[in-house]
Parts: sequence; C-alpha cells; structure tokens
Amino acid sequence: MAMVCLSDFEAYAKKHLPKIAWDFFAAGADDCSTRDENILAYKRIRFRPRMLRDVSEMDIRTKLLGTEISFPVGIAPTGFHQLAWPEGEKSTARAATAMNTCYIASTYSTCTLEEIAAAAPGGFRWFQLYIHRNRAVSKQLVQRAEALGFQGLVLTADLPYTGKRRDDIRNGFCLPPHMKLKNLEGAFEGDDRSEYGLPPNSLDPSVTWNDIYWLRSLTHLPIIIKGILTKEDAELAVRHGVQGIIVSNHGGRQLDGGPATIDALVEVVEAVQGKIEVYLDGGIRKGSDILKALALGAKCVFIGRPALWGLAYKGEEGLQDVLRILQDEFRLSMALAGCASVSEIGRHLVQFSKL
Ligand code: FNR
Repeated sequence: MAMVCLSDFEAYAKKHLPKIAWDFFAAGADDCSTRDENILAYKRIRFRPRMLRDVSEMDIRTKLLGTEISFPVGIAPTGFHQLAWPEGEKSTARAATAMNTCYIASTYSTCTLEEIAAAAPGGFRWFQLYIHRNRAVSKQLVQRAEALGFQGLVLTADLPYTGKRRDDIRNGFCLPPHMKLKNLEGAFEGDDRSEYGLPPNSLDPSVTWNDIYWLRSLTHLPIIIKGILTKEDAELAVRHGVQGIIVSNHGGRQLDGGPATIDALVEVVEAVQGKIEVYLDGGIRKGSDILKALALGAKCVFIGRPALWGLAYKGEEGLQDVLRILQDEFRLSMALAGCASVSEIGRHLVQFSKL
C-alpha cells in the first residue's frame, strides 16, 4: 500500500497493533471531545494565500531556542514506544536525528535515557519531566538528562492526575511484563504497580509555579512548560523565567471540554508578546496544519500520535516516512500560500474568526 498521508499510517497502525496498544495510543479523556476538536478546529481556519511571489527556492528551516532544525516539526513526548515497535525510543531517536529535528523523550520511556542518547549520538533532544512525589527521583532524572546532553527540560504541567480514559479502563491496560518504565527502574522498589506501570499516586499533584524555581536550582537547561492553554498561565510562565511554552492539551487525554490547541494558541501568543518561544502540539495531521499554527504564532509544532503510527508501520524508517511526508506537505503549502521562507509566515496568511 502506498503511504501518501498520515491517515494511511493511522489506518495501518489501527489494523496491525494489538487492540490494547491501539486503544492506549488513540485514547482521549471522557467523551474525547477535546481530542477530536484538536483536529476539527484546523478545518475551520482558511488561508489568505498570496500569488506571484517567486517560490522557486524554499527555505523551511527554523530554530528552537537557537538550535536549527530542518523544518518546524518535532516529536512530542509520548510514553511506551515499545508498544509500537520493539526498539522503542531508540528508533524514535534515530529517526529524529536522521531528519534533523527535535525529539522530546518522555519520563515514561521504555528505553533508558542512556540508551536513547547512545542510539543517536549528537541528536537534538529535550527531556520531558513528570514530577513525582519522591522528588529525589525527579531530581536524579533531570540531572541524568543534562549529563547525557539533552538540551532542554520540558515540564508537563497538565497531569496532576491521569485523565479518565475509558478504553484503557475497559481493557485493564498495563504494560506487557517484558516492557518496563526503564527510567524509573528501582525508583519505586517493592511498590505495587497499577496505574500505567507505576505505583498508584506516584505523581505529585501539589506542584505549583514555585516548583519552577526548584527545577531552576537543579539544572542549567532551558525550561519549557508544556500544557499551557490560557493567557493567565502564559503570563505566569514568562514571569517565572521559563524559556518556552508548549500550548498543549495532552492530545485531549486530560481535561475533556478544554479548547483545541490551535484555538488557545492565539491568546497565549498575544500574552507572551514575543518574550519567549511558543510551540504547539495536538491535531497536527498535515502540512497545512503546520502552516496554520505558524501563521498564528507558533515557532514550531510537535506530533504525538502520528509519530507512534510511523513507528508501528516500520520503526525508525516509518517515523522518517511520516516526517518526510509532513515536510513535503508543509513545503508545498508554504509555496502555494506564497511564502518562500518560514520568516514570511504571519497572521496575514489566515482568516480566523476569533482574531
Ligand atoms: C501522550 N502525551 C504525553 N505527554 C507528556 O508530556 N508525557 C508523556 O509521557 C505523554 N504520553 C503520551 C502517550 C500517548 C499515547 C499520547 C497519545 C500522548 C501527550 C503528547 O505529548 C502530546 O501532547 C499529544 O500527543 C499531541 O497530540 P497529537 O499529536 O497526538 O494529536
């Protein structure tokens, strides 16, 4: 079967993955309305394309906090990549490095940070942190990541508790016995594992903005906050001295009923006033989605589920295929909208009723 667009990879993954793994990847919280809205919201935005603008030479590169990437799409942190492909996060790291983009490795990886770093030496990677009640565990993870050459720390802010994902409950989802949350091995010795392979209540729901100062005391890495959806929190992020924001609703897996990320992006960008970089994830499925997000002020977008579909298709090769398709579609959309370089993308490019 010719793989032409990301939906082809989705269909392949749905057909070939065990149902329990597919359901875990696909899950949204409750009725999945926010998960679905992430995708539908792009369809409501129309372009204002410009013509006759010499698009014979295209430059789709951009920079994330000063580091150049080949195009404005990175890999969002998702857990349990071995559910998609036996080599798991090692394959993800290789694919991201081959495509010269940023990979945000999850706390809940099924390979160690050391294995990820060794799989693709020199790759551009950030580490995503969930803060655990046992702060020593989180501190050690941050410091391990920094020592291994990860270049940014992404704090996920939208998961004080795990959202209610009905299919995972129905399926009694748990990791197969041969897969482990390798970065946390030994951290919870003797504890009974239930929720997603972790002891119940291991995450710290008491985290506040003050913990940014705690993180700052642990590491020199730039801190990026993931899960911001409002101008109030965007202003707080700036005030607490973080370097970036990822506008995200966790792929609709946390609070159901929140906004699509592309809709929340506008108020966050306005609040930040260019003081820090703003990124977005959620619902990116084609090149024109990337163009819309950049037009509304995102510096870069990240893909969650589509990366897992690519892995499920053919490991690192499959993920490279997904990234290459997005890259080609993005370049084409830019050209058809009259932009020869990423710096020419701006608000003028979209009609957006909320503006
Ligand atoms: C996630 N996400 C996530 N986020 C995070 O900060 N740490 C994590 O470990 C995970 N794990 C995870 C697993 C799976 C299966 C999914 C689908 C998502 C959220 C992820 O980073 C991102 O916000 C969304 O996936 C983006 O939406 P799309 O691209 O999947 O539509």
